[in-house]
Amino acid sequence: MTADTLVRPASRLDRLGFSDIVKIRNRVMELKLKGETVLQLEGGEPFMPTPEFIKAAMKKALDDDQTRYAPSSGVAPLLEAIGAKLSEHNGLEVTERNLIVTNGGMHALFCAFQETLDPGDEIIFFSPYWTPIKDLVTFAEGVPVRIPWEEIRSLGDLTDSLRRRLSPRSRAIYVNTPSNPTGDVLSSEQLQSIARFAIENNLVVISDEAYEDLVYGGQHVSIGSLPGMFSRTLSVFTLSKSFAMTGWRVGYMAADLPWMDGLRKLALNTINGVSTPTQFAAAAAIADRSDYRLRMREGYLERREILVAAAQEAGFRCSAPRGAFYLFANVRERLGNDSWKAMEMLLERTRIASVPGSVFGPEGEGHLRMSFSTSIGVLEAAAASLKRL
Ligand SMILES: Cc1ncc(COP(=O)(O)O)c(C=O)c1O
Repeated sequence: MTADTLVRPASRLDRLGFSDIVKIRNRVMELKLKGETVLQLEGGEPFMPTPEFIKAAMKKALDDDQTRYAPSSGVAPLLEAIGAKLSEHNGLEVTERNLIVTNGGMHALFCAFQETLDPGDEIIFFSPYWTPIKDLVTFAEGVPVRIPWEEIRSLGDLTDSLRRRLSPRSRAIYVNTPSNPTGDVLSSEQLQSIARFAIENNLVVISDEAYEDLVYGGQHVSIGSLPGMFSRTLSVFTLSKSFAMTGWRVGYMAADLPWMDGLRKLALNTINGVSTPTQFAAAAAIADRSDYRLRMREGYLERREILVAAAQEAGFRCSAPRGAFYLFANVRERLGNDSWKAMEMLLERTRIASVPGSVFGPEGEGHLRMSFSTSIGVLEAAAASLKRL
């Protein structure tokens, strides 16, 4: 397209990228079309299908003709179920007026950054980070400020690290625990130090709790539940990982009342509400008090052990992730520093598909992300294949 072309996309789109993971997916597809078996550890989805009781709730909603426009913030039974869950599991005491249902966690994050960042505002976050975060921040005209996970991992109090990144333009901190891609889980002490710092410096916190139900040995802590934090925290949740509902596109956000008008305007003008029957199914999922999530966690633990042991044996440097379902392994000694080349090498030699660490920020270089959210059979085949690396 030439510069004088009148018909062209708006320049704001230059601030948005495409996920590099698509490139990997295409590469995997290419191999599969050639008849090769690829051990797919590059994905980010739960290994099991959506539970039957949620599908049944969806069918019932359709049979009940729950197919009309709904209030754009969410239907009453879902908001009620979310309120009870946030009180029981997250220590967040909210009313329906503090809640909004979104098109998955991604849409909630889009709204959260649009809501909080003015042009030039800086937002601090830990890196490597989930790839879209940087784009969502720059699309909101915010400025990303990264702190390497490696710098803070072994610290209890994060104040000094945060202080070194503070500037007159600092506006927010994005917190993702458990973390994609690193599997880090911030301790209570670390979260308390972030909370203190946010209060002292009048910063907003955007808390991405997509993996709240995948903490192995320990308790998930919602930073918005810490003293003095609710008023300055936008807490983002999704059903994608907790209920194997990635394709349903439903999530939600909790925040104090002064944030809500803006969030409602954003939701109204982007999606005007999540599909009505989906919301009824989501209500059934969130209201569930069975041991589903416990069993799911056990399934992940079993899978984690297989992959961690195999990766360590192959000479990758990694410890068992404390949360989420990814192994973020340092592969420098075996496959070099260039993570795209390392991904290719691993794919060529073992037929294991992974994600180059640099996709998640410069601090990810020299690493590969491998998901253990797949069948035991695939993980055992990957373990056998890694022996031949
Ligand atoms: C850290 C993190 N946050 C949010 C999301 C959003 O998920 P969804 O849009 O499917 O709810 C994901 C999905 O992979 C994620 O990894």
